[in-house]
This record gives sequence, structure tokens and C-alpha cells, in this order.
Amino acid sequence: MDKFYVTTPIYYPSGKFHIGTAYTEVLADAIKRYKTLQGYDAYMLTGTDEHGQKIEDKAKEANLSPKEYVDLQADSAKKLWKEMKINYNQYIRTTDDLHEKAVGVIFEKFLKQGDIYKGEYEGWYCKPCESYFTETQLVDGKCPDCGRPVEKMKEEAYFFNMKKYADRLLKYYDEHPDFVKPAYRKNEMINNFIKPGLEDLCVTRTSFDWGIKVPSDPKHVIYVWLDALTNYITALGYASNNEELFNKFWPADLQIVGKDIARFHLIYWPIFLMALDLTLPKTILVHNWITMKDGKMSKSVGNVIYPEQLMERYGLDVTKYFLLRQVPVNSDGVFTPEEFVERYNYNLCNDLSNLLNRTVSMINKYFDGNLPVYNGNPNDEIDISIEKEAEDTVKEFENLMENCEIANAIQRIWGLVSRTNKYIDETSPWSLAKEVDGESEEERKLRKEKLKSAMYHLVANLKEIAILIRPFMEETSNNILRQLGISSENITWNDLKDYKNLQDIKVIEKGEPIFMRLDVEEEIEYIKGLMQK
Ligand code: MSP
Repeated sequence: MDKFYVTTPIYYPSGKFHIGTAYTEVLADAIKRYKTLQGYDAYMLTGTDEHGQKIEDKAKEANLSPKEYVDLQADSAKKLWKEMKINYNQYIRTTDDLHEKAVGVIFEKFLKQGDIYKGEYEGWYCKPCESYFTETQLVDGKCPDCGRPVEKMKEEAYFFNMKKYADRLLKYYDEHPDFVKPAYRKNEMINNFIKPGLEDLCVTRTSFDWGIKVPSDPKHVIYVWLDALTNYITALGYASNNEELFNKFWPADLQIVGKDIARFHLIYWPIFLMALDLTLPKTILVHNWITMKDGKMSKSVGNVIYPEQLMERYGLDVTKYFLLRQVPVNSDGVFTPEEFVERYNYNLCNDLSNLLNRTVSMINKYFDGNLPVYNGNPNDEIDISIEKEAEDTVKEFENLMENCEIANAIQRIWGLVSRTNKYIDETSPWSLAKEVDGESEEERKLRKEKLKSAMYHLVANLKEIAILIRPFMEETSNNILRQLGISSENITWNDLKDYKNLQDIKVIEKGEPIFMRLDVEEEIEYIKGLMQK
């Protein structure tokens, strides 16, 4: 069985996660489920990034020790992922003993190799971002990443010799076109950071205490990004006395990160791996953000939506569907209450739910709920074309998923949903079900055969749709399959291959609609109300 190792960034446990933050997790979960359905031995890692000054400050504010604070926060992160049915295999905390020890080993290795050297650092420091900037990197004298004020700081520190690896990294980018997706992110790194001259990275701090100490010089705390990035390998036991998981799963097949942390993952992370003489991950996917009409989601602006709020009212599948469908490859995805309600009413209710409902009703009406057997040969152009559309959808969906274009992949499924709805109009089963005055026996047979074929193709397409949406809408997938009389227990991606094999289906029972139309105005008001809380 082929393995598939997927990682999310480890989250800062510094407050409640809003729908934007949850996006990376939902995306990774969907891809993991997809790979599992395809038969991979898929392993997903997530966790929390618990060291650093920001956390130390937050704990102080809450009157707790840093450890007490991160324990609480990690628990609430795990609780949310559980509610969202995130199917991770492992949760790493950077305060785990195993991780802390391994980071110490890694640091000392770099030091011994001469990749890390001791020097003095002076620069502009942004506390919330835990990053130093040079004078020229500042924007209007403020942090270029978050726009907040920076302060001048100077300290004795250790540095990682990034310059040494710059050319090797460029060569690697060049020779591995799949390493960074989408490719334009790689060009941003080259043009904004590498070509202008990669600075050595300051990898220790003395200004605070809450972190992993340099084993050979414990007044220095290891920079939170060196500590955090290595989680992807320490979680698997790298540099411990049990490297079994590491040997099995490394290199990662897919590492997913938001665009704000692209620089750390596309430059520093591969360089650390090169310095450790380890294979680089196959692909690092940089995704865009969920934003609000008035820009970034933030508590101070009062435009934050939490996943629990959407899940409570609309369900988990709707929340995941919206998030994944909303973020394109080339730009951020905007959350608006209007679009949320519109997608619910059109994509889920009108298109998907009605398709199922119409199909199930017709089979009940025309065949007493028994899926008719038909002669198996599409009897005209309409059937040939719907079969081709179903086949193409799977291929195109797989290609888009392979390329990590999940919003487009989902959109492709809805292409099939629309096409299948259109198929109902094209075949107009209600006319096929009617006796025609003066028709011959042969004409009557053909009419019946066409009706059977229409029902059969509708069910085959719905089954395919239910499987395709399964990685991110499991409950809906189960509901569709249940109404079609198909057991969802052992469904795998293989079931898509034999698209027209519906042998197991006997009786199709009419069920409740899977999505009910929302009152547009009422729901928009409701969601707007959430943002003000
Ligand atoms: N701790 C670091 C990651 C270290 S990995 C070695 C971190 N944590 S975070 O909690 O701030 O972010 C976690 C993830 O949430 C990141 O992928 C980030 O891009 C993502 N998002 C935060 N806000 C987001 C949106 N509004 N939209 C989409 N993703 C967003 O960074």
C-alpha cells in the first residue's frame, strides 16, 4: 500500500480559531480522506506551536504559567477539530518532550557542522510576528507582515547560514516543478527574497524564556520557527530512539500552509532539510486566505465568524463545502453572508438536493422504488453524452486534486450535478412514462427502455457524485447513498471505476430532502448578527 503523508502547519494556540484559520485544517482533512478512499495509507499530522514570546505574553495576561495556558489552548483546539471531524492521525505539541529533545539535537548538529554560528543581532523586531526585519523591509516604519509597530532590539545570537544554501535551493526549485504549488508562489520567493540576497537567519533569542534552550548554551532560547518547522519530522520520531514512523512516512507527500507563512516553508524549511541531509517534501501547497469584504477577519474590526457558529446552524458539511469551494488558486476567497446563503440555496438545495429528490421520486412513481434493469446499452446520443460527462468528471476531478486545486475540483463535481439535472429535462421521463395513443408494441418497448435507462443513469450519476463529495461531505454522501439504497460502509474510490454497476441496489426509498431552502433575508441577517458578537 502506498503511503501519503500530509501535514498542516502547527497552530499558534493563542485564541479561538475562526473560519479562516480552520481552512488549512479542513483542506488537509479533505485531501487525507481523498487519499484514504483511493487506498493510500494516509497519515495526517497537525498540532500546536506552543513556544515563543507571544505565548509567554498571552499566558501572563491570563494569569497562568505558559504551560498551563498552552495546555488549555491545545485542549480547545483538539475539541474544535473533533467537532469538525478532522481525521488527523497525530497531534504534535512543541512542548512534547520528544520534540524538545529532538530540536536540541538538530540545533547542535547544525552548530557542529558550522551551519549555525554565533554573532550579534540588531534589527527591528515585531513581537506579534516574532520576526526581525531590516530597515528596508519595514513598510512606513512598521512591520511589513502585520502593519504593527516594531522595536529596535540588539542581542547576542546564533545565526543560520542561509546564504550558503541559496543556490542549491534555486536549483532545487528549478529541477522540481511540483515542489511548490501554485508555481507563482515560488517566483515570489525568488524575486522577493532569494534574488535580492538571502539574509542569514537569527535562530536564537535571549529576550524571553519560554522556549527550547540551546543544549550547549542554555541562556539562548531556540527561535520559534526553527523549533516549529522541525515538528514535521520530530513528530515521526526523527532524532529519537524510534524512527519507525519517520522511515515509513518521510518525505512528506504534501505540506499545506497558508500564504502568510510561505516564506518560512519555501525557504527556511527546505534549507534546514538540506542541512540535515534529508529528502525534501514532494509538494508544498500554499493556499490563499478566507477574507471578509472589509479585509482581514479580525476581532477588533468585529467581522469574525467561528466555525462552530456556522456548523451549529447549517451543519458541518455545508461549512466545509463553503470554505473549500470559496478559496481560488489565484486570489483570496471572500466570505459574505449573501454568498454563503446563495451557495446553500443554489448549489446544495436547488442543484444537489433536488436532483436526488426528483430521481428518488420518479423511481418510486414509475417503478415502485425498484431500480429498473435496462438493456445496458445507451440508446441514444443523450445517454452516450451523460456517460461521457460522468467519466470525464472523475478524470478531471482527479487531475485537479492532484494539482491541489480543490475549489476547482469541487466546482467540477457541480458541473456534473448541473449536467445531470439537465439530463432530466432532456430525457423528460414524465413523457416517457405516458402511454402514447396508437403506439406500436415496439415503440412502447423502446419508450419503456428509455425511461429505465434515464432512471438508471440518474442513479449512477448520483452514486458517483456521492463518492466524489465524500472527502469533504461525508454525511451528505451517506445520506445520498442511503436514499439510493447503497451501503456506504465499504465505499472506496474503486467504486467509481465500475460506474454503471448498480447491481446491489434493490429498493430506493423516498427520503427527506438533504437540504431545505433557506429564507434568504432571514439567514443573511442571522449571519450578520454572528459577526457582531
Ligand atoms: N504557528 C504557525 C505555523 C507554524 S508551522 C511550522 C502559524 N500558526 S497560525 O495559527 O497563525 O496559522 C495556522 C494556519 O491558519 C496557517 O496556515 C494560516 O495561513 C492559516 N490561516 C490563518 N488565517 C487564515 C485565513 N483567514 N484564511 C485561510 N487561512 C488562514 O502560522
